[in-house]
Amino acid sequence: MDVINESLSPLGTYKEGMPWNPVEKVIMERRSVRRFKKEPLPDNLIRRILEAARFAPSAGNGQPWKFLVIKSPEIIAEMERDATRITKFFMFFYGYTMYWGLRRLITKIMATWSVLRLYSNEFSAPPFFAMTQAAEDQTVYYQGAPVVIIILEDKRGVSNPTIDTGVAGENIVLAAHSLGVGACWMGFTRLLTYYPKWRKKFGLGKYPYRFGNSICLGYPAANVNHEVPREVQLVEWYEGGMKDSPRIDRQGE
Ligand SMILES: Cc1cc2nc3c(=O)[nH]c(=O)nc-3n(C[C@H](O)[C@H](O)[C@H](O)COP(=O)(O)O)c2cc1C
Repeated sequence: MDVINESLSPLGTYKEGMPWNPVEKVIMERRSVRRFKKEPLPDNLIRRILEAARFAPSAGNGQPWKFLVIKSPEIIAEMERDATRITKFFMFFYGYTMYWGLRRLITKIMATWSVLRLYSNEFSAPPFFAMTQAAEDQTVYYQGAPVVIIILEDKRGVSNPTIDTGVAGENIVLAAHSLGVGACWMGFTRLLTYYPKWRKKFGLGKYPYRFGNSICLGYPAANVNHEVPREVQLVEWYEGGMKDSPRIDRQGE
């Protein structure tokens, strides 16, 4: 109790060489979960996870978010179907790895052009790979998750509301992991914004909200113990005067 009283943190203050505390452990050991049990999550557990999002910091405390909890198997299945359908449409034009010969060349040119001109983020390698798999019916987007949380972003948020919704989302993911619930961000829900019916149903893109991101939740069906590598970061430490160069520290080694 003494330790608790001497700092703002309920977990005490840092001591050289101390092991990861529970919060750090949750951060370090969290992995994206992509296989879920069918078992539904109790509403109170979902509400508890959402509390972590509600308490997230935001610029000017603007809280530029709205949370949608999708737990209807019928709706999730339809989201899955429609996301896959629109993926197939896109990959008909851009999915060069799916074709051979002249078709491959044409789609490759279109994909390259799109990366350079239109969708420089969406068409980077990992989403492109996932979309190729989805178009070939190899993977499913929502991985059978019993719950999908959609985060809508209020355009009127202070400064950059995308950061705020990202912070809220990460609170969801971390709180979920700390409570034994698996979570995976699912950026592909954005594909549903191409459908008027989903825009209408969820208010995606309807003022003042636009699509932020989504997160799948559920009890993990498998132990996710593989480590996803992280790059060593060359962090610049500015410790001297204005004329001094920063010290480069290799964070992660
Ligand atoms: C904003 C955001 C969007 C993501 N979208 C997807 C996605 O659509 N599908 C997916 O399987 N993983 C998605 N991820 C999860 C990343 O692939 C994952 O965090 C990364 O590979 C690191 O693995 P880890 O979470 O297990 O540490 C997303 C992560 C973030 C932060």
